[in-house]
Amino acid sequence: MPCTVIVGGFFGDEGKGKIVAYLAKKDKVDIAVRGGVGPNAGHTVVINGKKYKTRMLPSALVSNYTKLMIGPGVLINVNVLLEEIKNFSTKDRTFVDPQCGIIDSTHIDKDTSDPNLKRIGTTGTGTGPANADRALRKAFLARDSFELSEYLQDIPNIVNSSIESGKSVLVEGTQGTFLSLYHGTYPYVTSKDVTASAICSDVGIGPKKVSEVMVVLKAYVTRVGSGPLVGELGQEETTLKGWTEYGSVTGRLRRASPFNFELAKRSIMLNSATQVALTKLDIVFPADAGKKEFNGLSPEAKKFVNKIEEEIGLKVAVIGTGQEIDDIIDRK
Ligand code: IMP
Ligand code: MG
Repeated sequence: MPCTVIVGGFFGDEGKGKIVAYLAKKDKVDIAVRGGVGPNAGHTVVINGKKYKTRMLPSALVSNYTKLMIGPGVLINVNVLLEEIKNFSTKDRTFVDPQCGIIDSTHIDKDTSDPNLKRIGTTGTGTGPANADRALRKAFLARDSFELSEYLQDIPNIVNSSIESGKSVLVEGTQGTFLSLYHGTYPYVTSKDVTASAICSDVGIGPKKVSEVMVVLKAYVTRVGSGPLVGELGQEETTLKGWTEYGSVTGRLRRASPFNFELAKRSIMLNSATQVALTKLDIVFPADAGKKEFNGLSPEAKKFVNKIEEEIGLKVAVIGTGQEIDDIIDRK
């Protein structure tokens, strides 16, 4: 499909990175373009035991063929981005929009010292204060940065003309639906909307350009930072279930709860999802680790997937059964 938008259905950390990487490789995607907030995101992709961790570049970077772009709605930490470009040798296929906002050290200082932001439990990466400055029209943009000059391109123009000419485009969202400034658990949210419509706006495409919206749901729910989490388990129970996770940007322990059907349904609505990916099925059903065929799943896991499909009214098209990029059941 020419243009697929991928977003998180819960509170981020659903495993979007792995799904994006898998699809980019499998479909030989021409362009992956990142929307979302900025370097507060952390995506992990594992290939042959090697971990690729990104905060700025699209997770599709593991597909050598794919051009990597960052849309004008995204905030950039220049050092983080340049470091990733260097580490992953993506210099010749990385493109940044001149209108991306720039995070500076004052934003990071504020994000880590402001009592209100501390109470919310932000990632401390400066994104909230940078978006505030952008709203006040005093933030610097990528076009002002000498270090980024060689990467600057009109991203909306490239993305739209690529879709028009039949090229495949993956639009990568970050965070998750209930961290949205508009639709999430305010004030315990991130600094802008992160639902599919916002992610499209971030990269400069209108709703008519999108062919599929894939919402990524994890087989249980996690949340890092403060704010409500219905059905939250105690730390002991989380450990017993094997659901313990640590934030990939902040290293903080993630809070956990069982899969939440109400949130899932609302997320499908808010994002106008056409497809669903379910990740980490193997963490809830260890016997199903590494499986690649739906028919091979345990009866319990099948029942769980079927119940999700019944409740949300959509087929679970992709199922993650392990860390590795190809630990996947692809039913698309
Ligand atoms: P901020 O986005 O750093 O301002 O943090 C606001 C809230 O969103 C905090 O609860 C963060 O933990 C959470 N958050 C931001 N980005 C992510 C993410 O990529 N994954 C999970 N939680 C996130
Ligand atoms: Mg993450």
